[in-house]
Amino acid sequence: MTERQETTMPRAVQFTRFGGPEVLSVVDVARPEPIEGQLLVHVVVASLNPAEVGIREGAFAQIWPADFPMGQGHDFSGVVAALGPGVTGFEVGDPVIGFAPRAAMADFTVIDASTAAKMPEGIDFASAATIPASGATGWAGVAAVDPGEGETVFVSSASGGAGVFTVQLARLRGARVLGGTSSANAHRLEGLGIEPVAYGPGLSARLRDLAPSGIDAVIDTFGGGYVDLAIELGVAPARINTIADYAAVSRYGVQSQGNGNAMSPEIWTALQDLVVSGQLIVPVEAEYPLEDIRRAYIDVATRHGFGKRVVRLRPDPR
Ligand SMILES: NC(=O)c1ccc[n+]([C@@H]2O[C@H](COP(=O)([O-])OP(=O)(O)OC[C@H]3O[C@@H](n4cnc5c(N)ncnc54)[C@H](OP(=O)(O)O)[C@@H]3O)[C@@H](O)[C@H]2O)c1
Repeated sequence: MTERQETTMPRAVQFTRFGGPEVLSVVDVARPEPIEGQLLVHVVVASLNPAEVGIREGAFAQIWPADFPMGQGHDFSGVVAALGPGVTGFEVGDPVIGFAPRAAMADFTVIDASTAAKMPEGIDFASAATIPASGATGWAGVAAVDPGEGETVFVSSASGGAGVFTVQLARLRGARVLGGTSSANAHRLEGLGIEPVAYGPGLSARLRDLAPSGIDAVIDTFGGGYVDLAIELGVAPARINTIADYAAVSRYGVQSQGNGNAMSPEIWTALQDLVVSGQLIVPVEAEYPLEDIRRAYIDVATRHGFGKRVVRLRPDPR
């Protein structure tokens, strides 16, 4: 992919009605202007998240009513292109990560400077772009169940975008981590120090065999019955966290800490530092050019794969 000329109009992904991937278009837009306290960021990589499929389909229209044209994408990495009035602590050219709700799939986006984290040396833009959503989700889920040295933790979906962060962060606490996965990704999890467990029929028995003394904590990163399974296995509700099964939260009083609970530049910086030091691996399975945005979201909607998929808007500038 070559660098676009500065004279071309900035691009953004938009949709003007709820629907399938066919409603997505890449359109020319005006360059946004940062207002008081904001950064204008030249986006390098935007991360893909499954919730964005639901937003586009209208599944969250009660929370975010139709306000067309709507954009896509949340977390991103990029370079500061301009400072709004009153911004201190940043300079034009600083590599940063941030969270721009429904506005990250664009050449330019604006965010409050107080919500941006600088990128340290030693992390690439694709990895960094996944930190504010999936990375923060893993951080929050692990903090919620607080695994200790030698404890056994089961993560229901270990290979997904949220899962790969969750299992590694639990492992860094010294816990033994069992990770639900298909056979396709089992060896990749082993490479991260995780014990793979096949999801699907018989999972309960497999977990009992692997942990005859019991499982101390469960982090559900998939939904669809894993909280029920954790309760059945005798895990205390306070040591169960789900990011996807809100009915189970009211049913059992389990926790539901997600990326919103770790929406902090300090936490994002700590996660980036773990990547730089080699303690946290960010598997980026696929990078798509912006023009392939429909294909990108079709692949995300399969709900299979290892780690993250991202959209690249331009080459890494460093
Ligand atoms: N509340 C929050 O803050 C928050 C934040 C992030 C995500 N979420 C939600 O959490 C869920 C997961 O997000 P994500 O980004 O990790 O999704 P994702 O990357 O799309 O997850 C895909 C993964 O799911 C695995 N999988 C497929 N079927 C499974 C099954 N039956 N049991 C266990 N794992 C299975 C796949 O493993 P294989 O490829 O091995 O089949 C794949 O690795 C989504 O519902 C998302 O909306 C919530």
